[in-house]
Amino acid sequence: MVHLGPKPPQHRKGTWTDVSETLLADLKELEEQLTVSGETLKKITAHFITELDKGLSKKGGNIPMIPGWVHDFPTGKETGNYLAIDLGGTNLRVVLVKLGGNRDFDTTQSKYSLPEHIRTAKSEELWGFIAKCLKKFVVEEFPEGCTSNLPLGFTFSFPASQSAINSGILQRWTKGFDIEGVEGHDVVPMLQAAIEKEGVPIDIVALINDTTGTLVASMYTDPEAKMGLIFGTGCNGAYYDVVQDIPKLEGKIPDDVPQTSPMAINCEYGSFDNEHLVLPRTKYDIQIDAESPRPGQQSFEKMISGYYLGEVLRLVLLDLVSKNHIFANQPLEKLNKAFIMDTSFPAKIEEDPFENLSETQELFQEVLGIETTSPERKIIRRLAELIGERSPRLSVCGIAAICQKRGYKTAHCAADGSVFNRYPGFKERAAQALREIFEWEDGVEDPIVLVAAEDGSGAGAAIIAALTQERLKKGLSVGVKQ
Ligand code: GLC
Repeated sequence: MVHLGPKPPQHRKGTWTDVSETLLADLKELEEQLTVSGETLKKITAHFITELDKGLSKKGGNIPMIPGWVHDFPTGKETGNYLAIDLGGTNLRVVLVKLGGNRDFDTTQSKYSLPEHIRTAKSEELWGFIAKCLKKFVVEEFPEGCTSNLPLGFTFSFPASQSAINSGILQRWTKGFDIEGVEGHDVVPMLQAAIEKEGVPIDIVALINDTTGTLVASMYTDPEAKMGLIFGTGCNGAYYDVVQDIPKLEGKIPDDVPQTSPMAINCEYGSFDNEHLVLPRTKYDIQIDAESPRPGQQSFEKMISGYYLGEVLRLVLLDLVSKNHIFANQPLEKLNKAFIMDTSFPAKIEEDPFENLSETQELFQEVLGIETTSPERKIIRRLAELIGERSPRLSVCGIAAICQKRGYKTAHCAADGSVFNRYPGFKERAAQALREIFEWEDGVEDPIVLVAAEDGSGAGAAIIAALTQERLKKGLSVGVKQ
């Protein structure tokens, strides 16, 4: 088959003669469990479409399909200065965005690493931390003070039900966050109160999901962009649907919003297949879910997103250790620690350029205090490949489903996130999986492609804040019928 598009990397061949029969048998079994065929991808995609529809229905389903109350496509002409913050991964980012009005923008930003304990801290601590970071940033960027309050687009990358663009009730934490007193509450007044307590001149204008921000920021510069996708700590996508095609909004749409109006939808499809009907879950996925703060939630995300990839590898290795097949007489205290391997771990193993996998050797020594043998490293490398290949292959089922649902024959799927940007081979493997799902003809350019997104949680949040202010100025609504 000849396809014009990025090609996935070839698996390392090498010699396997020094690997014992026992380990080879283990590997064969793991390959069967972790490999997802093109046929399975098609089956998953078909189920995905029905689940997206269910999420938009009055009855609802597993996938929340949250209307984001963004009714406008960006024109690229939006202008003004906006602040944006991004909470949802491993860092808090604060960005000052200057929209140029000519499909261009400038950003100045600071990154504050989110102290690990914040993921499970008390609510006030989280909001206080963000407000303090905002204060630091505003003092640095506006040393002479501000003449009026700065409008802020708040990118909150969690499932938050929105009855208006400037509110969002957290349905549940995802990605290992577990902060008391936030689920079931509107996060906007909580952050606004903390901002006021710090005396920072900021008004939160819009609450945005990172995927919606990515969609809008990418459309601002690329009119072919049809989706905003995040493959990072979590995994999710957003697209524009049409008001009249969203049954659950019947009777809730204000009179000034036409039925044909666009509506950005934050799918929250990390929760796809929480019923476990089609995803080929392994015992490792089941264990990750069982030991997570929210068992039964985010089934899809837990198999593919950056928060979990290293953990899958750790659990597979521990399984082999429990059978006494690897790491004889090695200290295991560190390997026994949950989440000790982040996604950079399998990524670095896959990137190891040396035939004897010496970088893998060093990584295991430095991080885990484990001395590896050559056959063990070959197995570890192959496991990293299997885990690193399963993630993009499953991930694209969400993209394929949205394209089929909306009838997109061609599309730029604008993607961002640490896994998309930094995991070796992710883009190529994702492209290959799309080819298998769609069975495109030989010799043609892939009509649906993943492209690098514009900065959704910075520029996207700013553009949405600008679109919102514009609507408010015109007296148009930005939420459900009052
Ligand atoms: C998780 C969040 C979702 C976010 C995604 C990517 O799935 O629930 O809101 O978009 O991670 O950050």
